Amino acid sequence: MAKVDNLHKGLDLAVSRRKSFAQSRALQPKAHQLIPGGAHTYAKGDDQYPEDAPAFIARGKGCHVWDLDGNEFIEYGMGLRAVTLGHAYEPVVEAAYRQMQLGANFTRPAKIEVDLAEALIDILDGADMVKFAKNGSDVTTAAVKLARAYTGRTLIAICGDHSFFSIDDWFIGTTEVNAGIPAAITNMTLKFRYNQPESLEALFDQHPGEIACVIMEVEAVTPPAPGYLKRVKEICEERGALLIFDEMITGFRWHLQGAQKLYGVVPHLSTFGKAMGNGFAISALVGKREIMRLGGLEHDQPRVFLLSTTHGAETHALAASLETLKIFREQHVVEFLWKQGERLRAHVNRSISENRLQGFFDVIGQPCNLVFVTCDQERNRSQAFRTLFMQELIRRGVIAPSFVVSYSHSDADIDHTAEAVHEALGIYRKALDAGVEKYLEGRPVKPVYRVYN
Ligand SMILES: Cc1ncc(COP(=O)(O)O)c(C=O)c1O
Repeated sequence: MAKVDNLHKGLDLAVSRRKSFAQSRALQPKAHQLIPGGAHTYAKGDDQYPEDAPAFIARGKGCHVWDLDGNEFIEYGMGLRAVTLGHAYEPVVEAAYRQMQLGANFTRPAKIEVDLAEALIDILDGADMVKFAKNGSDVTTAAVKLARAYTGRTLIAICGDHSFFSIDDWFIGTTEVNAGIPAAITNMTLKFRYNQPESLEALFDQHPGEIACVIMEVEAVTPPAPGYLKRVKEICEERGALLIFDEMITGFRWHLQGAQKLYGVVPHLSTFGKAMGNGFAISALVGKREIMRLGGLEHDQPRVFLLSTTHGAETHALAASLETLKIFREQHVVEFLWKQGERLRAHVNRSISENRLQGFFDVIGQPCNLVFVTCDQERNRSQAFRTLFMQELIRRGVIAPSFVVSYSHSDADIDHTAEAVHEALGIYRKALDAGVEKYLEGRPVKPVYRVYN
């Protein structure tokens, strides 16, 4: 366990000591002038945070970060769930640095490509072969392409209850933010409902012999009903389609071997990313040899041009991932994530009941991936209340778009967070009674999937 316990000493729970975000504020206009949306990931954008918030992070260590103004925070979510061990986690940084000194990218493959492929295949049940890339979107898109080539079919069935699979047209075209994507592409993607096998069967009935694959997360916030995932695989096999599990979030978080191991259903193809590199850019498409081999030439079918990128096997990202996987295996990281999430949930649930907030504020999801739900007086989902809650946490030294923990969230960090949450929920209660506008400073946050300001 990382030694971070003494780091939180500088954190300040006192609301009266208002933080200054002057340096952050000064940089914001320039960021928006130079970068569409002001950030390279919409989920990190200014519109996702209260106005009174750190806009830029200068550095991180463990689960603590410091903003441009020198304010210190405990962070949740950490790199959109990628930094599972902790920021600047020394063994991983050192492994990457050692490799960097040997060269980042060559004209021929590096041995470490084979080493990491072997390590991953050793861990994951459904992995006979592996292809690496730099991000999740590339591997989910590659999985879809491979499924189309393997089955000779065109349509894709995606789980409509899962929020994100790729920035690519086949997925983003199905969201509200579909500008620039031809309807001809969007029309090839169909949606089914999670935990409703009959909705998937209906798609296959409506489009016999046309659906190449089913792509879904194993679990988002709603757990699979008993037998559901097994039934999905059966439906795919009965109808001649491939099952793809997108384990970008669940991989190395629900279970070392993926949520597919936890629920005992091995798909034909799976995609991993985020946690496997502790923040370094690395993702993987893995699957059955019979399908994956279409990306090579040792068969008599047309080759699929499958993930051939300049940076796909950047050596230090592979070294970071090898070290990350080693730590996951040796130090029982996943068990720790579940334990700390459970500890935090217990604290938050206590505060919910002490502040009489049942039905207004909730923590949902598995302990390794907790998210919170904010509702208004009418018990409708409320962005204003979400913003207020985040605002009050930030004032108390906690940045929490979710309660997704890492291996660096020590007991002291969780307990500090619990105190901050308790006070923030006290204000939430008052805002329910007296009106959120009395407590919220600035505009509410807005959804990522929106077309206009
Ligand atoms: C379930 C899921 N799939 C795919 C992706 C895309 O990954 P990336 O952002 O690395 O392209 C994400 C990213 O958040 C995700 O959550």
